[in-house]
Amino acid sequence: MGMIEYDRATAESFRAARELPLASLTAWREVLTPFLVPGTTVLDLGAGTGLFTRAFREWFDVEVIAVEPSADMRAVSGEEMLAGDAARIPLPDGSVDVVWMSTVVHHVPDLAAAGREIRRVLRDGSVLIRGVFPGRTDRLGLLEHFPEAARGLARFPTVEGVADGLGFDVVSLEPVPQQSAESLRDKADGLRRDADTLLRGLTDEEFERGLERLRHAAATAPSAPVIDYLDFLVLS
Ligand SMILES: C[S@@+](CC[C@H](N)C(=O)[O-])C[C@H]1O[C@@H](n2cnc3c(N)ncnc32)[C@H](O)[C@@H]1O
Repeated sequence: MGMIEYDRATAESFRAARELPLASLTAWREVLTPFLVPGTTVLDLGAGTGLFTRAFREWFDVEVIAVEPSADMRAVSGEEMLAGDAARIPLPDGSVDVVWMSTVVHHVPDLAAAGREIRRVLRDGSVLIRGVFPGRTDRLGLLEHFPEAARGLARFPTVEGVADGLGFDVVSLEPVPQQSAESLRDKADGLRRDADTLLRGLTDEEFERGLERLRHAAATAPSAPVIDYLDFLVLS
């Protein structure tokens, strides 16, 4: 199945370490605005602990339906979410306008099955993907400090692999910035290894060395905000 098990402990770590304040995601709000026009029904597929479910409700005048396979992620989210996954979406045919998948697509074991299911529930809209793709990680700070994380990244599907696998066409692809932490020190202090697929793939030694690098960098640039870029892939 997926790359990691989202049990209760992982869900708690994810909530603590990976959820960002909405103010850190203003560039994401901007790129999503043309798609999430008032009256849109958006499916947050693999909604996790509900970061974007809450963001969309706050930012846009849209209806958000959240689907998440892990009972623990659903419970920790505190949001109303449906049990399901990309290949089993518990919604009627043609019931949503937009499908949103944030850092989910690399967990999907059968992209073709997911693509069929997404087509079934989509009325006529787009699939919006936030993610990390092999070969496009120049501005992902994690890899600077934890270079061995590239090993896990190599197993993620490429942009073409995702589009072809799901059976959709690429409409656009652009890196979008986010403020991942207020400083490298905050980043180091808040890091939770079990909340990140790439960090979980490291040996203890690799992780400790990376943490040391990160703390060293934090000591030399203590107050610079940490900006990372993830890709925004639009398919239709
Ligand atoms: C890294 S978390 C991202 C959560 C949320 N989308 C966010 O950006 O905060 C990945 C989520 O994908 C879910 N997931 C794993 N396999 C999935 C699948 N086959 N279909 C849908 N979601 C899946 C996991 O349970 C987990 O909640």
